Amino acid sequence: MPKLTNDTLIRALLRQPTPYTPIWLMRQAGRYLPEYNQTRARAGSFLELCKNPDLATEVTLQPLARFALDAAIVFSDILTIPDAMGLGLSFAEGEGPRLERPLREEREIRSLAAPDPDRHLRYVLDTVRQVRRALDNEVPLIGFSGSPFTLACYMVEGGASSEFRTVKTLLYDRPDLLHHILEVNGRAVTAYLNAQIESGAQAVMIFDTWGGTLGTSEYGEFSLAYMQRVLEGLKREHHGERIPSILFTKGGGGWLEAIAASGCDAVGIDWTVDIRAARARVGKGVALQGNLDPAALLAGPQAIRSRAAAVLAAFGHGAGHVFNLGHGLSQFTPPEHVAVLVDAVHELSRAHH
Ligand code: CP3
Repeated sequence: MPKLTNDTLIRALLRQPTPYTPIWLMRQAGRYLPEYNQTRARAGSFLELCKNPDLATEVTLQPLARFALDAAIVFSDILTIPDAMGLGLSFAEGEGPRLERPLREEREIRSLAAPDPDRHLRYVLDTVRQVRRALDNEVPLIGFSGSPFTLACYMVEGGASSEFRTVKTLLYDRPDLLHHILEVNGRAVTAYLNAQIESGAQAVMIFDTWGGTLGTSEYGEFSLAYMQRVLEGLKREHHGERIPSILFTKGGGGWLEAIAASGCDAVGIDWTVDIRAARARVGKGVALQGNLDPAALLAGPQAIRSRAAAVLAAFGHGAGHVFNLGHGLSQFTPPEHVAVLVDAVHELSRAHH
């Protein structure tokens, strides 16, 4: 396989030395970019955009055309899995995701099956292949999935939720049924990520957006245990190259030691975590990814530079840091501010390597 021109992301995830700290941003392709909104309008809707590999490839590459990012992330959504399971996904304008047939009855839960990615999620794999061709080994491509628990939240609630009443009721009343969903989701996520790796994804990330809403022992039992199983089933290498994995539990700052012991190569941290303390807690076993507050990008260039400098200084000297936000980019972010951040991280991080 030809080597990457810029392999700083892969090296940092594997805690190998790099000349500077690599940076990419969660939701780097999205509504804050006018060209994204144009392509989405051409596609008809967000979901049609995800399902059209030509257009999904186009929007994956849009942020890389503007900014000196060190990685691309395949344009898709975590809810492609519940959609492929037949739960009927739609996105109402300005309202977030909706599943037409959320899991409520024991009978429905017992008949849930893991989709075959080559059949039901082929459009994502086609996008991965097309993006790899277009990138021509300039920077690596990240594949991703939701965590088994985060997917279960949407599958049971039927959409976004502030309290997670339905899924938490299920967790406490019928843990056996939630475990069944998580077991199926775990197999689905493993097969999906492995299919992305086989199609060309060079690193993979598990988004556990809602694991942080759980209590400590419930997090271990219902979220982390299933991510650990996924990690155990992942292909670690493809064509002789290591495929690093990133595990991100939003709100997981209290459990970093356990997350670091899950078998992932890197732990994503949100902005509530002190990255200096996080580094001391996880030791040398894993890399860290994060963790600027996405809201900092709403402020002006001086503030962005100084906040970026503070994150870099807090991580300190040496390998094993991938700069990112602590969650996805806000749609209200001025694109020029992203340029300021990317350039600041590249420039200011050299002193730390
Ligand atoms: O990071 C990237 O650039 C890759 C693309 C990506 C999207 N969603 C595109 C998207 C990724 C990695 C995701 C992951 C995702 N999707 C998560 C986990 C990360 C997180 O944000 O916590 C979750 C929970 C979802 C589910 C989801 N998708 C929600 C709740 C929403 C609605 C909220 C919103 O921001 O609108 C989406 C829609 C979505 N996914 C958009 C994008 C660009 C906006 C849709 C649009 O264009 O209208």
